[in-house]
Amino acid sequence: MKKKLVFSGVQPTGNLHLGNYLGALKNFVILQKEMKCIYCVVDLHAITIFQKPEDLNNNVLETVASFLATGLDPKKSIIFNQSSVSGHAELAWIFNCVSRIGWLNRMTQFKDKAGSDKEKASVGLYIYPNLMAADILLYKATHVPVGADQKQHLELARDIAQKFNNDFNCSNFFPLPEPLIPKNVSRVMSLRDGTKKMSKSEESDYSRINLKDKEDDIANKIKKAKSDSEAIPDNIKALEAKPEALNLLNIYSEISNVSLEKVLNEMSGKEYSFLKTKLTDVLVNEITPVGKEIKKLLEDKSHLMKVLKKGTEKANIIAEENLKNIREKVGLI
Ligand code: TYM
Repeated sequence: MKKKLVFSGVQPTGNLHLGNYLGALKNFVILQKEMKCIYCVVDLHAITIFQKPEDLNNNVLETVASFLATGLDPKKSIIFNQSSVSGHAELAWIFNCVSRIGWLNRMTQFKDKAGSDKEKASVGLYIYPNLMAADILLYKATHVPVGADQKQHLELARDIAQKFNNDFNCSNFFPLPEPLIPKNVSRVMSLRDGTKKMSKSEESDYSRINLKDKEDDIANKIKKAKSDSEAIPDNIKALEAKPEALNLLNIYSEISNVSLEKVLNEMSGKEYSFLKTKLTDVLVNEITPVGKEIKKLLEDKSHLMKVLKKGTEKANIIAEENLKNIREKVGLI
């Protein structure tokens, strides 16, 4: 049996939101109680789309602050930024030579992010999933907590691991990492359009709840969120064609820790304004303390730098040891 090891990453591209929190960060905190965990601020991934250098710097620290504010403990988990462990870029190069162009051509996230003019997208954006596989396999991680949008990238990481093991005749050298995707909030949707995922890049700030939002922001955004003109139904099936309503109910169910069935039992026949009042309360309770803590932590940047430095040292030890074996397998001297 391989030892269980968790790895996950978050891009430092500004405000983290409720989707990042429910899809990933909340799970990170639960997992650190049970397993050895490595959490990475993936700055090399962020620069696949141009970032202003001064913004990138601040966003890395803000992402670390968000990790700590949601409950990650640097004594339990390794917390560091990707570019400070050079093994990520080195293994990504090796994986560029293992991964197949046909595999990358299937990645839907590249298609979404590159938009209509693919010729103008960076090469980095195209080979991004190979770097992601390198992040995970550099530590031989076995479990990867992510939202559903990363599932395809995880499948690619497994394909790369398997091909490497076959090509270099070393079965079981890399584990095939398993995604850990939350059941009900694997894809938190936009508050304005229930068919799109909540994301940092959607133009309207009303589409998302940011971890730094104040009580009033949360109340206003939930008030304006799209719901449904009919009353709340008594069964989940009736919500199939109502993605905005289902999204709000799912968020409420997850944060209040009550199953969706029970929530529907309790609320069926009521207007969505009833749900919205309750949802605002639970969100304010859960999110505003995190936002306040992020702001407090950002007042002491030297502390955040120290957390990163210590994490980097620990990550580097594991990475270097594994890289030594990887170089050997490939035949690099
Ligand atoms: P990123 O930075 O876009 O998002 C960080 C995490 O948040 C999850 N997430 C969501 N979950 C549910 N609903 C949403 N609306 C939502 N939006 C974001 C993402 O699934 C992710 O878990 N490629 C990754 C970062 C990465 C990584 C890795 C992850 C790089 N290397 C290695 C795991 C392992 C990304 O861009 O996540």
